[in-house]
Amino acid sequence: GFLFINRGETFNEDTLNTEASLENSQKGKETKLPIPPILKDTNPEEGKAEFDLTVQKGETEFFKDQKTDTLGYNGNYLGPIIKVNKGDEVKINVNNTLDESTTVHWHGLEVPAEMDGGPHQRIEPSSTWSPFFTINQPAATLWYHPHLLDKTGEQVYKGLAGLIYIEDENSSELDIPKDYGINDIPLVVQDKRFTKEGAIPYELNMRDTMDGFMGDTILINGAIGPELDVKNELVRLRILNGSNARSYDFNFSDKTKFYQIASDGGFLEKSVEMTNVILAPAERAEILVDFSEYKVGDKITFRDTENNLMTINIIEDSTKKADIPKKLVDMPKYDKDEIVRSREFVMSGSGPMVAINGKQMDMNRIDEELKVNELEEWVVSNESSGGMGMMSSSPHPFHVHGVQFQIIERNGDKPPLNEQGWKDTVMVKSNEKVKLLVNFREKGLFMYHCHILEHEDSGMMGQFTVE
Ligand code: C2O
Ligand code: CU
Ligand code: CU
Repeated sequence: GFLFINRGETFNEDTLNTEASLENSQKGKETKLPIPPILKDTNPEEGKAEFDLTVQKGETEFFKDQKTDTLGYNGNYLGPIIKVNKGDEVKINVNNTLDESTTVHWHGLEVPAEMDGGPHQRIEPSSTWSPFFTINQPAATLWYHPHLLDKTGEQVYKGLAGLIYIEDENSSELDIPKDYGINDIPLVVQDKRFTKEGAIPYELNMRDTMDGFMGDTILINGAIGPELDVKNELVRLRILNGSNARSYDFNFSDKTKFYQIASDGGFLEKSVEMTNVILAPAERAEILVDFSEYKVGDKITFRDTENNLMTINIIEDSTKKADIPKKLVDMPKYDKDEIVRSREFVMSGSGPMVAINGKQMDMNRIDEELKVNELEEWVVSNESSGGMGMMSSSPHPFHVHGVQFQIIERNGDKPPLNEQGWKDTVMVKSNEKVKLLVNFREKGLFMYHCHILEHEDSGMMGQFTVE
């Protein structure tokens, strides 16, 4: 079965709905991996793009003959891919048909603050918000999701999330898989906790309140234990951890090697050979997997530690050569000598007491004031001493809006190779300290926060201005 129950990190088995999940696993239908549609650009002009996004209620059949109430963009669950090119002038019309307010935040996009879709850009029911901006950053896999104050966790959990692809000259010239849905595959990974009726009420137990919501069933693109059919060639997986709080350690059942080619904000300078990749909530990784040595009929399992998430079926012989490009992009490195200022961000507390620099989110307070085009060093540390005593480690993925940053130090050392590219979210575990270099090109009022959505909703967020 494809259900993942009672993992080691669980401190209290009573809080997991084990029985319902086991029952669900037997009812789970056999599913091909759903591939989200690419959203239609309604502006025929070259260099311009316009998109329509409707936030709506839906019903999703996660299990055979069982309908679950969900939310989605232009559909029942999750959203289409918004695909843009570097340099494009983009307008997006977001129509909120829910009976509650929402926002849509473009996570990882470098846009002026009033276009960012944070908690200040509320979209009331039956109204439309139309942000516009120019794409001014390299090829990357980003995402979009709601950011309503105190309600982000619930709206994302119900299904509101989608991917943004930026392409540029480099990404189109690189000899890497680019056939969408064929050998260039989006994977949005999330965890859920289903009731016996198949519902996904957003109800937090004590452990969820402390460490963030943890489901017992893992979905990819909205499917439980899906199957992906590929040829025996190079396959590109664009992975988003779209979960509220769970981190994953992705690998393949036969421990096959793969190559990470991109992190949150775009291509790494060189591909990094790995056998597993860890992603905290909101982090992305693009990886290339070489299936050229496999035979038609082979099956490989994509896993989180030892838990099976998806079966990959080799269904056809390919004629393509599988070359892994070594060099991917010229990565401009910030120069430490140009640091103008250093700031500290201390993450602390647990559950409802989570805070950054001892403070909780206040929409009317500006926590930090920055200047545009000035290089700053941000020292981010985690002094949370475990959510539920010794059993929990209280990691906090720290995310900054409006920018892609560079990690220069993790606990006194250089960060691992796959963290040396552009990042917008960085995992900081208990007692860890990371140093980031940030340089803002966009102005306005932005957020920084923990991307465990229950922590964010409890106030683990601050505001800064760039002038
Ligand atoms: Cu992914 Cu402040 O957001
Ligand atoms: Cu963001
Ligand atoms: Cu946190």
